[in-house]
Amino acid sequence: MRIVLGVSGGIAAYKAVEVCRLLVDEGHRVTPVLTDAARRFVGAATFSALASDPVPEGLWEPFEGGIAHTRLGQAADLVVVAPATADLLARYAAGMADDLLTATLLATGAPVVVCPAMHTEMWEHPAVTENLATLRRRGVQVVPPESGRLAGGDEGTGRMAEPETIVRAVLAALGPDASPTGFSGAVAPGVPALRRGDLAGRHVVVSAGGTREAIDPVRVITNRSSGKQGHAIAEAARERGARVTLVTASALPAPASVDTVRVESAAEMEAAIDAAARGADVVVMAAAVADFRPKVAAAHKVHGVPELVLEPTPDILAGLVARRRPGQVLVGFAAETQDVVGRARRKLERKGVDLLVVNDVSAPGAGFDHDTNEVTILCSEGRTTRVPLGSKRQVADAVLDVVVARLHGSAGGPADERPTAEHETGHTGESR
Ligand code: C5P
Repeated sequence: MRIVLGVSGGIAAYKAVEVCRLLVDEGHRVTPVLTDAARRFVGAATFSALASDPVPEGLWEPFEGGIAHTRLGQAADLVVVAPATADLLARYAAGMADDLLTATLLATGAPVVVCPAMHTEMWEHPAVTENLATLRRRGVQVVPPESGRLAGGDEGTGRMAEPETIVRAVLAALGPDASPTGFSGAVAPGVPALRRGDLAGRHVVVSAGGTREAIDPVRVITNRSSGKQGHAIAEAARERGARVTLVTASALPAPASVDTVRVESAAEMEAAIDAAARGADVVVMAAAVADFRPKVAAAHKVHGVPELVLEPTPDILAGLVARRRPGQVLVGFAAETQDVVGRARRKLERKGVDLLVVNDVSAPGAGFDHDTNEVTILCSEGRTTRVPLGSKRQVADAVLDVVVARLHGSAGGPADERPTAEHETGHTGESR
């Protein structure tokens, strides 16, 4: 497919070279379009040497095949801008067309993906926030920046997403046929290359984060969940071809190309999940929904120490189980600190879900707020799959492997699962 790779003038322009190379490796025809400022960071010769097409000179210079911006815009299957500086985003949001890149952006009807990169102060400026909101409203996909080292030795949010993340977002936007090699972004050594497309045509709903239950307009009851595991599942499901709705109580950035609904309380999460789950093939309740909330949230700030009267929150998963449609796969999560598998097995039966993913949150490197996790996946038929300590993305893919196996009618899980023993609750199957 034909991809225009727009590069604007930030230090992250050097990472756009890698984006270019990866997209060419995937068999795409890439035309890099550099702003004048981008050329101050990386030479056009570098891109021309790696891309399928030479870098066009500019709006005014001769272009093979006609007028550069209209030809490029019309022919493109996708335009990705990496890095997208604050200036580029402002010009694009304002509809300006004063150089070849902005003119191409206006001249295209193809999907557009922008990858902002700038200093934290600029990223947090309301002008940038509003420009991005405008672009999102117009259907532009945003691959949010990450936090880390910035130009000039600074640290903070604003660092452009890694090339692999950008390429994954581009391939997801192009559709399931866009990656002949099954590009996985090399998640980590040991992860099978890709399960790309094995959730194509499926609608997956994922919840994430810890809900916040109001005591008054200022205080909340919440828990330590970061939402990282749920967001990783949403991202993995999207990359495996699913249409994904993420209902999140976490402040983490929305994964690329995922329909994200932000909620705060259990009640809001219940409403959003119920609406999304109606036609869904899979619902993964990775959220740490508060089990209880103040019976009454005070309308005004409470002064002094309040006597809290608590009540249980609605059990969202129980509602889903009661209304589940035929073939729908329901996945619950549990965090335990002792008798982990035994308690989880009883919970799976009590809740009536198909799969229960259990975290031992007292284990080193697992559970709340870590970037790694270690889980056991229990199936209603009795099998268990141990997933060793790995990134939350690796754990996400392991959970989705079991989900996919279930959707295909094999109850147990992935083909390599070997039931070997009875565990303490009397159900067959320990594996790996
Ligand atoms: O019982 P426990 O809270 O440990 O169950 C955890 C599972 O149930 C998670 O999947 C969580 O998202 C879900 N849950 C729910 N509604 C609640 C509480 C938990 O759906 N009110």
